[in-house]
Amino acid sequence: DDDTPPAPVMLGFTAVSANSLDTVTVPTGYRSAVFCRWGDPLFPDSPAWRPDATNTAESQRRQIGDNHDGMHFFPINGSSTEGLLVMNHEYLNDEYFYPASVTPGGTGWSLEQVRKGQYAHGVSVVHVRRVNGNWEVVIPSQYNRRIHGLTAMAITGPARGHALMRTSADPEGEVVLGTLNNCGNGTTLWGTYLTCEENFNGYFSNLGGVTRTPNEARYGLPTGNSGYRWADHDPRFDYSTERNEPNRFGWMVEIDPFDPTSTPKKRTALGRIKHENAAMTLSANNRVVVYMGDDQANDYVYKFVSSGTYNASTPQLNRDLLDSGTLYVARFDAGATTNDMMGSGVWIPLVLTTPTTTAGQTLGDLYADMGELLVNTRLAADAVGATRMDRPEWVTVHPTNGEVYITMTNNSGRTTADEANPRASNVYGQILRWREAGNDAAATTFEWDIFVLAGNPTVHTTAGDLRAGSSNVTADNLFNSPDGLAFDADGRLWIQTDGNFSNVGNFAGMGNNQMLVADPQTREIRRFLVGPSGCEITGITWTPDKRTMFINVQHPGEYGSHPNRPSIDPKDDALAFSQWPEAAGGRPRSATVVVWKEDGGVIGT
Ligand code: FEO
Ligand code: CA
Ligand code: CA
Ligand code: CA
Repeated sequence: DDDTPPAPVMLGFTAVSANSLDTVTVPTGYRSAVFCRWGDPLFPDSPAWRPDATNTAESQRRQIGDNHDGMHFFPINGSSTEGLLVMNHEYLNDEYFYPASVTPGGTGWSLEQVRKGQYAHGVSVVHVRRVNGNWEVVIPSQYNRRIHGLTAMAITGPARGHALMRTSADPEGEVVLGTLNNCGNGTTLWGTYLTCEENFNGYFSNLGGVTRTPNEARYGLPTGNSGYRWADHDPRFDYSTERNEPNRFGWMVEIDPFDPTSTPKKRTALGRIKHENAAMTLSANNRVVVYMGDDQANDYVYKFVSSGTYNASTPQLNRDLLDSGTLYVARFDAGATTNDMMGSGVWIPLVLTTPTTTAGQTLGDLYADMGELLVNTRLAADAVGATRMDRPEWVTVHPTNGEVYITMTNNSGRTTADEANPRASNVYGQILRWREAGNDAAATTFEWDIFVLAGNPTVHTTAGDLRAGSSNVTADNLFNSPDGLAFDADGRLWIQTDGNFSNVGNFAGMGNNQMLVADPQTREIRRFLVGPSGCEITGITWTPDKRTMFINVQHPGEYGSHPNRPSIDPKDDALAFSQWPEAAGGRPRSATVVVWKEDGGVIGT
């Protein structure tokens, strides 16, 4: 007898066509439903969401946040019908978030409105369960929790207590208020959640007009006011007077979702970058490895390898593994053959003894200690000659063979192509993958290739034009700007987009932002879902039985980059652009979408 189970069907559904509708479209035989919308209640005393956006700061503190992003389902006792859905709230859109009477920095602007914005950021821990086939939020629940822009969190790892982390409110440099711009996520092997701080620079103003340090410039702190205008009423967001406050953002944050009294921890050993997401795996000798991207044009790919080893039998012993280890940055080399979109690579350790590209110099000549180096992670990576990438977004590890896949979302400003970023003016993006030497996640060398070059073969028809995309891009699966990326337990690669949804020119035939699935072996890619107008599709997680999938629709109706918008004047036009998931005339809301198969089968089969 052969006891080997049959290989799972990888792409067993009929592709969805591109569309520009203000709705969620799933394949025939699938269903979807919406819950956990921005402003929905989490506690028995949460005020109801108001369709005119006049909820107060105190209401928002008791409600689900805005701009849902990375997300993970933590089952309760292994259940596939009850668990904690933990989700990020990345940012907010003024034109939907505030009523017409409030403009940041203008009419109606006050500390109350600043606080409302801060409470809409961060993370929601939501106790969810399926009742009679419908997923609902459990209220009251001992687990429900809002972590936001004012929640106290501990600074841990090498930068804890460092002079660069001290502020007037926290002279010890050990406690920071809040997590901001929570983009993608990760999970640990010991059952905690990782939330990634991305574009933190945008919250800070420079009201005093100080000259930026190289660090402040490299991380993009504004030379004047920030768009959020928080510094108008909350002085810690004026970095001209509170110079170190920005140093306390841009970190990886670990949260224990099952303990609502736990203090979130900013794990500084994983570097200070514009963190996209985190993918954890184990090395051959049982060290914890975390892969990460820094999402900015021409920024880098990183990995962290813990000093300690993972203890599978005693989860508590792993709790501080993320506080000591080595952070590496990637260099992607052309390999033996040039222009074949594959090559070799090197992981360069960001430690004081590593030589920089200046002869005779080490990182120790630039930074006095690891705390200082980590606050300056990007500049240290610059100094050692890492490869400037096309905006590294989500990274994910194949469940069985250990290959690592990462999205490079786009880089329209790229002037010089290289082997791993093969197009100048890259408006489409690509997905790259690598295999660590010896299949050991702690290896210091790897081999890489490009899994898919997104493009438009219906527009760019000249032979050899890389804008057409790789051969696995066809008229039936057009997409641009891959961003969210995750393997499911069977090894299907789910691809989510955050790109140009104009459906014209370079982007003709692509419709709204969407989610596709790839078979990593055959390289076939098939469209599974199309989102509503103006949204990004992001965040993905499953119940253990693989029969329920959760994804997030972020900022439906965000039309700022839409070339066909009727005018640039925000409020009225924006509210007309999408009403999803509200009724006609309603205000668009970020929300979670549950997807299941009508026959109860595994998603994707
Ligand atoms: Fe928040 Fe890079 O996406
Ligand atoms: Ca090559
Ligand atoms: Ca993203
Ligand atoms: Ca993006």
